[in-house]
Amino acid sequence: MRNIIQKLMRTQDASDQELLQLIQTENREIEQYLSVCATQVRERSYGNHIYIRGLIEFTNYCKNDCLYCGIRRSNAHAYRYRLTKEEILSCCHMGYAAGFRTFVLQGGEDPWFTEARMVDIISAIHKKYPDCAITLSIGEKSKSEYQSYFDAGANRYLLRHETANESYYGILHPRDMQWKVRMQCLQDLKEIGYQVGCGMMVGSPKQTPELLLEDLRYIQSLQPHMVGIGPFLPHHDTPFRMEHTGSAKQTLRLLSIVRLMLPHVLLPATTALKTKRSDGHIKGIAFGANVIMPNLSPQEVRKKYMIYDNKAISGEEAGEQILMLKHTLQAHGYDVPCHRGDWKGD
Ligand code: 5AD
Repeated sequence: MRNIIQKLMRTQDASDQELLQLIQTENREIEQYLSVCATQVRERSYGNHIYIRGLIEFTNYCKNDCLYCGIRRSNAHAYRYRLTKEEILSCCHMGYAAGFRTFVLQGGEDPWFTEARMVDIISAIHKKYPDCAITLSIGEKSKSEYQSYFDAGANRYLLRHETANESYYGILHPRDMQWKVRMQCLQDLKEIGYQVGCGMMVGSPKQTPELLLEDLRYIQSLQPHMVGIGPFLPHHDTPFRMEHTGSAKQTLRLLSIVRLMLPHVLLPATTALKTKRSDGHIKGIAFGANVIMPNLSPQEVRKKYMIYDNKAISGEEAGEQILMLKHTLQAHGYDVPCHRGDWKGD
């Protein structure tokens, strides 16, 4: 299997059969080799730099009812909140002082944040912090809305595709959500000129290795700038409450495979991975990740932005613990630069 990994590293490609083997292997030496190769490729693209992004979870209202997600519309037990523009700016203020040069505005699909309100917030951040990148993660919108946000100063957009398979999309989502719409949104975002991120959960209910293979093929065709991958973790107030958690090891293998396929990809070691295992950040990086997204949301809302159970909120994933995170990273030989950390391809 080493030759498959070498081929993937050399050509950014492998056959379906070969990829399926890598997705599924439990051989520790092969996993170790994946990690070594992914690290090598990451270093070629980004040296020893790990990029940080300040995550601002500004609303947990959501009009969608995704079966896996704790802030789904029909979860009546979720304590809903919205941050004001001033609160959002104050998160940016603290983040900027701590060295963050990317702010990620993440939220449920909350109709209260109309196009006009979002443009107002994005413009205000852009005006106050012109040296910072603004990433949006606010779901499916029309192309013209995406364009307005881009014109207001947003540079990047995270919208996980969740699955590249239309019928599996129907297992994870209610009927009123359509896979084709998700695909169209990702195309629109790319055409507008955003740095675009897609991604999926690993080990969600009824997911098979073949479905993950389809995700990899989709990622290859979209050529996104960012890919978010984390293990599925059940939330107690969702239809998937009784389902098994996704495997951290399979998540790590997928991080490596994606790094080898897209040498310049911006690849976060996600909070879900950190939640699943406490060394999730360091392990994620060891398997090819180069981004960490600490939380800059006000402390009192972090528990409310609970998309899965036991979300890690107070350790190195917390924005105010950035010094601790930097120390841990430095102890492992990594540097955390104080700049936007843009994509380095092309
Ligand atoms: N477990 C893991 N990841 C989840 N997400 C949503 N709910 C869960 C869960 N229960 C992921 C989805 C979504 C992103 C914001 O978080 O992929 O796109």
